[in-house]
Amino acid sequence: MSIHKEVKKVTTNTLLKLKAANQRISMLTAYDFSFATIFDAAGIDVILVGDSASNVMAGHETTLPITLDQMIYHAQSVVRGVKRSLVVVDLPFGTYQSNSDIALASAIRIMKETGAHALKLEGGEEIVESVKKIVSAGIPVMGHLGLTPQSIYKFGTYNVRANNELEAEKLKKDILLLQEAGCFACVLEKIPAVLAQEVTASVIIPTIGIGAGNGCDGQVLVMHDMLGINNEFNPRFLRKYLNLHEQITQAVIQYIDDVKSGDFPNDKESY
Ligand code: KIV
Repeated sequence: MSIHKEVKKVTTNTLLKLKAANQRISMLTAYDFSFATIFDAAGIDVILVGDSASNVMAGHETTLPITLDQMIYHAQSVVRGVKRSLVVVDLPFGTYQSNSDIALASAIRIMKETGAHALKLEGGEEIVESVKKIVSAGIPVMGHLGLTPQSIYKFGTYNVRANNELEAEKLKKDILLLQEAGCFACVLEKIPAVLAQEVTASVIIPTIGIGAGNGCDGQVLVMHDMLGINNEFNPRFLRKYLNLHEQITQAVIQYIDDVKSGDFPNDKESY
């Protein structure tokens, strides 16, 4: 395991080059300064300030309630911790779907107020005009197809998407439209691995998979999931690299014991 020392910033171009060179892209979510600092120093290519903050930071059931102001707060905190990684921020629900002028205004607020490098929008054909408008203002956009959590009430479940012919065909068309509109990459969430591989081969822009198999150009996970902070979320696609829920619980139990017994603080921990 190596810690990256030299600062060579990751750009949207870097990601295109990684795909062209057949090298994989690593992406994780982060929502605050401390974790962003660690992920950046560890060498992650892309940090996504995901609207999953609505779930894992604020405790909402869906991503719908998080506001533009709240996303801006999280993104500002992340950007302060980053020297090298590309920082991508989700445009939250309701800030881009109604029309492309509103989408551009939301996009400009995030870019101006946070110092982030790019934005992510969910959807295909329905949001292409907004993507074009944002890209034409010089703002890089990452797409997001497959399971798009902002549309959870349309889907009804968080099950695998595009596992029927009709939806798979739409996804294949949508990614071409997003590429044409100027997206520099696209997240593919929870779709069959075979479809993700086919779609990945059909475009020049890199695909970043989550629950989309090993044929994507990169992978993304929500940090709370891969660090095992939430022990109740165990989907098939998730690999847990730590069990922080257990470790944090044990540490807090020990701390409570030490305080109650008078063991903490000792002489060395006092002035
Ligand atoms: O908000 C988020 O964390 C995301 C990832 C699941 C890709 O969009």
